[in-house]
Amino acid sequence: MSKNLQAVRGMRDILPEQTPLWQWMEDRARAVLAGYGYSEIRLPVLEMTELFERSIGEVTDIVEKEMYTFADRNGDSLTLRPEGTAGCVRAGIEHGLFYNQVQRLWYQGPMFRHERPQKGRYRQFHQIGVEAFGLVGPDVDVELILLTARLWRSLGLADLELQLNSLGTPAERTRYREVLVAYLRERVDRLDEDGRRRLETNPLRVLDSKNPEMADVVAGAPSLLDFLEADSRAHFTAVCDALADAGLSYTVNPRLVRGLDYYARTVFEWVTTRLGAQGTVCAGGRYDGLVEQLGGRPTPAAGFAIGLERLVALLEEQGAAHGHGAPHVYLVALGAPAERAGLRLAEQLRDALPGLRLVMNCGGGGPKAQFKRADRAGARYALVLGDGELARGTAGLKPLRETGEQDDVATAVLPAVLAARLGVPQATGI
Ligand code: HAM
Repeated sequence: MSKNLQAVRGMRDILPEQTPLWQWMEDRARAVLAGYGYSEIRLPVLEMTELFERSIGEVTDIVEKEMYTFADRNGDSLTLRPEGTAGCVRAGIEHGLFYNQVQRLWYQGPMFRHERPQKGRYRQFHQIGVEAFGLVGPDVDVELILLTARLWRSLGLADLELQLNSLGTPAERTRYREVLVAYLRERVDRLDEDGRRRLETNPLRVLDSKNPEMADVVAGAPSLLDFLEADSRAHFTAVCDALADAGLSYTVNPRLVRGLDYYARTVFEWVTTRLGAQGTVCAGGRYDGLVEQLGGRPTPAAGFAIGLERLVALLEEQGAAHGHGAPHVYLVALGAPAERAGLRLAEQLRDALPGLRLVMNCGGGGPKAQFKRADRAGARYALVLGDGELARGTAGLKPLRETGEQDDVATAVLPAVLAARLGVPQATGI
């Protein structure tokens, strides 16, 4: 016999027992985003490879090592999106969304990176991404951060830490880079292999090393914040001051460099110590140069993305559980006439009670088998139809989660009785 097929390594199924928590979290996020005037944009999961090379940067881990890239049947090089900002900018330029207007956008969906899978790190993962275009001032950086803080409150998450840094303008970074490279060259013997490679290709990323043996070198490195000129410094100070005004605590982390090349000025991450090594739940910043770099008119921009697997893990860790929306009613239909009448009754009840969750017994079976299925489905009530009930114009209503007798209820008053017992509203105007 052939081996059973399995999901691709690092790509997970989200099972029905998990989806209620996901849906609850997504609903909360949608509500918060609407409260700040953000609109959803839906983007393809495949883009031309060049888009990511030109935006994320050719000498980043993502582009060098992690993309799912292939030639399609026409020979075009396509890539499964490793993140959403590039596609969002591409779409905005293509559809003229940035011309003389402010856009507040969000998107959601799977992203793909061929990383080494471990807890909190997958090859297919999901993000909610949020991007604001056309706003140059620090106020929108603050808005984005306040939005995330509101989402954490709305989800009941208390102990996420906000880390903040400024990466300056490209010119400021170039000057810093020279000084940093000189500093690292003097200590090259203390760098690990990755550090030496990055020293040549993307030296700021050396600061991102998690290797404890390099901690001293990283800690002693010059700080980019000291290389900011007046405008960038004022921008960063304004962000910090506004966050303080809003009562939000944060840590300035001068080693926060981000793994994508498009950032400028403000960058931030929300981190937790509760998830082990993969503790960054949300990350983003400004990327004022990207729209122009991809062929659009100069357009200031800022945004962030939340890693949903990590957010769900955190919610689970804090004991958040959400009932799987068990059915209110399981309709037990005994015999062919009752099965036919049951289908009609079920539709009438769904019309009369829009919030009703009713599962119809399918596949026949005797009373014992059907009651067992009703119980397994987690239903609160069994609604029983048999020849006797049909003759009387009634249905039997039997509680399954508490003790109580089966009541014989006239079908005409069934919607009102169910509405009262279940606390669901009756449809108006029917
Ligand atoms: P990023 O830092 O690459 O930024 O990813 C954002 C978040 O996605 C991370 O903080 C993490 O929570 C989650 N994430 C990333 N990789 C994985 C993975 N392999 N498995 C599970 N979760 C992961 C971006 O993607 C930028 N586009 C964010 C942004 C939007 N910046 C401006 N606008």
